Parts: sequence; C-alpha cells; structure tokens
Amino acid sequence: MINAVLNLDLPGPTISRHQHGHFAEHLGHCIYGGIFVGADSEIPNDRGIRLDVVRALREIGIPNLRWPGGCFADDYHWRDGVGPSRPTMVNSLWGDVVEDNSFGTHEFMHLVELLDAEPYISGNVGSGTVQEMSQWVEYLTRGDDSPMARLRREHGRDEPWRVRFWGIGNESWGCGGEMRPEYYADLARRYGLYCRDHGENRLYRIACGANVDDYRWTQTLMSNIGDVGCGCHPRNHFQGLSLHHYTFGKSWEEKGSATAFGEEDYWSTMSNAFRMDELITRHSTIMDVYDPSRRVGLVVDEWGTWWEPEPGTNPGFLIQRQTLRDALVAGLTLDIFHQHAGRVVMANLAQTVNVLQSVLVTRDDELIRTPTWHVFRLARGHMDGVLLPLHWRDDRGVRHVVDDRPPLPLVHGAASRKGDEVTASFTNLDLEPRTIRADLRGARVVEAAGEVLSADRLQDEIVTVAPTEQVRVEQSQLVVDLPPASFLVSTLRLDS
Ligand code: AHR
Repeated sequence: MINAVLNLDLPGPTISRHQHGHFAEHLGHCIYGGIFVGADSEIPNDRGIRLDVVRALREIGIPNLRWPGGCFADDYHWRDGVGPSRPTMVNSLWGDVVEDNSFGTHEFMHLVELLDAEPYISGNVGSGTVQEMSQWVEYLTRGDDSPMARLRREHGRDEPWRVRFWGIGNESWGCGGEMRPEYYADLARRYGLYCRDHGENRLYRIACGANVDDYRWTQTLMSNIGDVGCGCHPRNHFQGLSLHHYTFGKSWEEKGSATAFGEEDYWSTMSNAFRMDELITRHSTIMDVYDPSRRVGLVVDEWGTWWEPEPGTNPGFLIQRQTLRDALVAGLTLDIFHQHAGRVVMANLAQTVNVLQSVLVTRDDELIRTPTWHVFRLARGHMDGVLLPLHWRDDRGVRHVVDDRPPLPLVHGAASRKGDEVTASFTNLDLEPRTIRADLRGARVVEAAGEVLSADRLQDEIVTVAPTEQVRVEQSQLVVDLPPASFLVSTLRLDS
C-alpha cells in the first residue's frame, strides 16, 4: 500500500496541451505511405493525406505536429516543395533514397488543418540561409502583396496561414551543422531576428537546445538569449529552447531488441526513460538562473524509445515494433512532463507513423494503433488542465539500476483539474500489483471511474485497455489498485 495526498483545490501551473505533440519527418515511411499516399491512391485520402491516419490522430487530440525534421530539416529547401515543379533531392541521412518533394509546405499545412492541430516548422540553419528561412516565414504568414505572399497565391493559397511554433535548426550540435554552442547561439539570434512577425502572426521561436545532458549548451544559449527580464529590448531572440532525449535499452551503441528482451533490459530501459526527470530538472535549473520568471519554455521536441531496427528492413528507416514496455515508457514520460508543467511547454514524440515509437503503423491500407497511441488517448484529459499537487507519503519502492543514477521509483503519477473534472494518471513499473490510497483534500468527489492498460507479458505487442472497477473513493480517499506493469487513468467528478 502506498499512501499519498492529492490536493484538489491547490491549482499549480497549467499543463500545456502541446506536451502531447508529435513529430513527422521525411524519414522511411513516416510521411510517404504513412501520412501521404497521393491523391490517386485507392486508400481514402484528402488531397493525398490518409483519412484513417487523420481520424486516429484526432482521436488522441493531437495538438501540434513538428515537420519536416529532425535531421532532414537542415537538408530541406522549402522552395523545392512548393508549386507545380518539384525538383528531387537525395535524403542521404535516412536510407539514401530520392525525395520527390511531393509532400511540401501546402500539403503539410493542409494536414494540420485536417488534424485541427498547430504546425511546428523546423527551419534549415545547417545548409540553408537566413534569407531562405526569412522568406519561408513570409510565404506562410504574410497577408498583403509582398513577393512571397504573391508566390503563395500563385500556388493556390490566398489567405496566410497562422504559424506559431518555429524551430531555428535541429540538433545543430550534430546532424544540423556540428556547431559549437557559442557559434550556434549567435546564429540563433541572427536567424531569430530575420524570422519576422508578419501582420497578426506571432512566432514562438525555438532555438536548438541540448543533447541529453549537455548542460554547457543550455548555459551558453541561455546566457545569449537577449532580454528576458528588464524590458530594455523589444523581445527575446527566441522564446523556447529544445531538448532531445531518447530511451535506449542500454545506450546508443546498445539499443537492444524491441521485442526480445529480458527483465534486466526492462529495468535498464525504464531507468533510461526516467532520466527525463533529472534532465528537465537540471536544464530548468540553469534556465531559472537566466530567466527566473520562466518566459522561455523548454521544448522536448524529440523523445521516445529507439530500438535496433526491425530485422530485414532498411536500417535508415528506423522501423521498430512495440510492446507493453513502450507503453510504460510513454506513461512514465507523460507523467514526468505533466509534473514539470511550469517549464515544459511542448514535447514531441518521435515519430508519428511507422518510425521509432510511433503512435500509428500502416501496412498498405491497414492502420494499427500502437500501445503508445492508447497511452496518449488515456492521458488526453491532462491537456490544458491545471496541475494538482500529488504527494507521496510512503516510499513507492525503488529499483537501483545504474550505480551513478538516482534509484528508479516504481510508481509514478500526475493529477490535473479542469473545472469539476480531475484526471489522475498512474504508471506502475513494478512487476507486482500496487495499491495507492490517496487522501483527497479540498473538494468532494462524487464519481470516480478508471481505465487501465496492461498485458500479460512485458513483451506483448497487443495490450488490453479496459474500464476498471479498481478505482474507488472510500472515506475521502482515492483507492487505486494497479495491476503489474500498467498505466491507469482515473477520472474524478467533483461536487460543484
Ligand atoms: O528521430 C530521428 C532523428 O533523431 C532525428 O532526425 C534527429 O533529430 C535525431 O537525432
């Protein structure tokens, strides 16, 4: 039994809906075949975009989609992907295939309109120019008869789009240019400056942030951000800073199999996933020094599991299968993001369809919702909720996995409130059942329900998701029985 306290009347920061964002790169079959099949396909589509994929993404309330990369973003030249004539290029990073640019700006913007999601566009710093990026912003967002707005109209779109989230390069410390932080910080300021706010459109510029625990990168960027406090300059050069952290079985060199793993691999994976908490905490601590009022958001725009590629597939396509273990990584990570609502304004799972820890898999005209999709559906009540303090009064049980890392707590959770409705999610990493008994303070619960995701074995690729009776209120306490290795979401209705 784990005793806890859940304060229903002490609202914390709002959990940005954008923490539940996704990422789609020109990589393998994410865009081509996964999202886009072309208007002539027999698979039902709208201007080439698969309608089954749109439906499934809308079911989880996808709030934003990041595109066109990833590493591909710093190879991508947007002018090749607009208008009737589309030059081809080589996608040398991902499978060395020829990219025909049939999915470009207009197709992406149509996709996000169908999804009712916000676009998050990653601009090219690595091999592009300031002018190129500046003109892309103008093309997308300007309303009058400027040269780029005119070009957009020639290509069939009269009204400007609204684009808020704008990435200034991707992994500029690696595939995006192998830069040093001092050099990149200057570029981020320069590119950020020329990415202008046209008309009513206001950009939220996201500078490339650290790889995992590169704290020097964060410090250098934050010390170069411009004005975040005194108001002496019109604005900061960027409003968000990114962070990338993937979960491997052991390490980048030893990613491990997606499906053939033992208990030791499971614990090492979970410990790696839990590292997200430490990373956010430590990067946030540095950000707090330069930006105590938290005007700059942390954007975890790539996260998820990364296993050895599925045998027999193109290794550059990053195709992998999923099991209950992936679902638990997703549940744990979302719980961590929710707990860090004060700083984490956005996060993007890699990648939406057919690549890495995707929420969807397509096989020709078939569509499969992965275990991770189910976690996003269960957790969607947290989007835009205010975080509620959840205190663990007892030891949740820990596992010591890696010597120099903090021990891994076995149970995690987060709670949030929207009006009279409370969403409380719990991830049980333990291979034994666990019961939580949480004192409910500050309001009366009149109804409690729950849904739970689990499977018989960690290696199972099919998970069960079902309503559960194991969530109840007894004498002002929320009692939740968690099955072994499970993700459970309870919904509580409060007395209004
Ligand atoms: O998601 C796959 C790749 O991982 C992205 O292109 C890159 O940004 C990261 O290294």
